Order: sequence, then structure tokens, then C-alpha cells
Amino acid sequence: MQTSLALRALGLDDRLRIEQADCLAFLGSLPDGSVDVVTTDPAYSGMNDHLKLGHGRIVGSWREAGKPGEKWFREFKDDPETFRRFLAEIRRVLREGGHLYLMFDSFSLLSLGPLVREELSVKNLIVWDKLRIGMGHAFRRRHELIVFATKGKRPLSRRDLPDVWRIGRLSRPAYPTQKPVELFEAMLAGSAGPGSVVCDPFAGSGASAVAALRQGCRFWGCDLSPEAATAARERARTFAATGADPLQPEPARVEPPFDQLLRPPSLRRTAARKLIRSGTPSA
Ligand SMILES: C[S@@+](CC[C@H](N)C(=O)[O-])C[C@H]1O[C@@H](n2cnc3c(N)ncnc32)[C@H](O)[C@@H]1O
Repeated sequence: MQTSLALRALGLDDRLRIEQADCLAFLGSLPDGSVDVVTTDPAYSGMNDHLKLGHGRIVGSWREAGKPGEKWFREFKDDPETFRRFLAEIRRVLREGGHLYLMFDSFSLLSLGPLVREELSVKNLIVWDKLRIGMGHAFRRRHELIVFATKGKRPLSRRDLPDVWRIGRLSRPAYPTQKPVELFEAMLAGSAGPGSVVCDPFAGSGASAVAALRQGCRFWGCDLSPEAATAARERARTFAATGADPLQPEPARVEPPFDQLLRPPSLRRTAARKLIRSGTPSA
């Protein structure tokens, strides 16, 4: 109670909204044209349905997916009809000129990726090079893919960003599939400015929320899992209050050009604190 009163006094509630909700319900609660950038990493069911054949050895037991106490989380049922509804909601909540960064695994990219074009203008397929190999039945996976799309015309604010991002994966993260905060900051580098509204309807551990706060943005997000929503909210509030990130205490390895573009932690903390104090952060 004390904490939430203190946060309200700082104005944080206006700038950080993380709810336990289904992505479609949460997006449905947002006004038309209210979001500047969507940065999101959905839990696709397609890849896991496919991997069931391999006994689902990615994280925990796939057969136990979504059951209490199991590691694996519930997934977004990504049949084309539901995915079209999701994309239509993204388009509705984005402002004219809004940007979308939508992560895909290789399986979902080939089945669902083409649907993005029905709602938005697809500009790039970005490769996230995780710098170390992971698992894989054939070639071992070292990358993930991010579709960059726009609603209407708004160019990136910088012209020097490549479409291959070399940012190290986290080893033994606190949350399954937790991504480095720096990956989400890279999504904001050419698309957001101080005060921008950033939205992630699959917030997971809250990496995208911390990235938004680091860049002086506002953040609206949700996760279906109550545990994830609570963890993400606490993580983001801790970062906003102290500048420390309890779920990613160490920075990820970041290679050029993002090593120079993502501001050093001390400057990011200053931007986040200014946002909280005044509500009108500066760059
Ligand atoms: C791949 S994880 C996101 C990880 C996150 N990017 C991070 O760095 O921690 C996907 C998340 O989507 C959540 N999820 C699954 N189905 C959902 C739905 N229908 N609506 C909202 N969230 C959902 C899962 O609980 C999971 O936390």
C-alpha cells in the first residue's frame, strides 16, 4: 500500500501500466491511435505444436504447458483467424505513422508472417544474432527474426541502423524466453523518443517495459500469466525507483553499432528519473 501510494505521488502510474490480461482483451481496452510503437515477442503455439514430436524439450515439458508449477507458459493460439484479429487491433491502437516490431520464430514466420502485410506496411525483416548458438534439431539456432512494419508513412529517426542486430542472448535468465533489455532498446532507437507510448501485449518478464523506461518512454503492456504480470510490474517499478534491474542485473553483450547507440546505464537512469519526476522527460 505504502509503495503504491509513493509511486502514485511520483506519477509512475500514468507512465507504467502492466496488467494481467489476454493480449486481445488488453489491446481492445486501448483507444484508437494511442500507441507510438509496439515492441512484442509473442508466445506462438505453432513451433511448439511442431516440436511436440521432439518431446518438447525446449523448456520444461510441453505436455505440462500452462499447468501451475510448470516452467513453460501458456501460448497465444496463433491460428490465422486469431492472428488476423491481433494484427487488426495492433493497427487500430497504433497512431498514424506508428511502428511495429513483431518477433517471430522461423516456424511462425513462414506460416503467419505474410499476414502482417494485410494490415501494415512491412519494411524490414530484422535478424537478431544472439552471438551464441542454442538448441536445434538440424542447424542449431543462433538467430531470431523481427518484422518491422509501419502504419502509414513515418521513417525511422536515424539512417544508420543495420538490419542485423548483434546482441548476446541471456544465459540462464530468470524467466523462460526472457530477452535482453538491449534488444528492445534497439527497437526503440529509431522509432521512439522521450514520452512516446510503447506497448507490449506479451510482456513476459518486463524486458520491454524496462527498455521503454530507460529510453524515457511510457509503457503499456500485459501478460496472460498472473506471475509474469506481477514480475514485470515489480521489475519495472524497481527499475524506475532505483535504476537497478533485478531480472537482468548485468548488461547484455552488444556489438556495433548498438554499443554506441544505446546510452550508458547512468544516462538511461537519469532519463527514467526525469520522466518520473516531471512527466516531461528530456533526451
Ligand atoms: C515469449 S514470452 C515473452 C518474453 C518477454 N519478451 C521477455 O523478455 O521476458 C511470451 C509471453 O506471452 C504470454 N502469453 C501467452 N499467451 C498470451 C495471451 N493470449 N495474451 C497475453 N500474453 C500471453 C506468456 O505468458 C509469455 O510470458
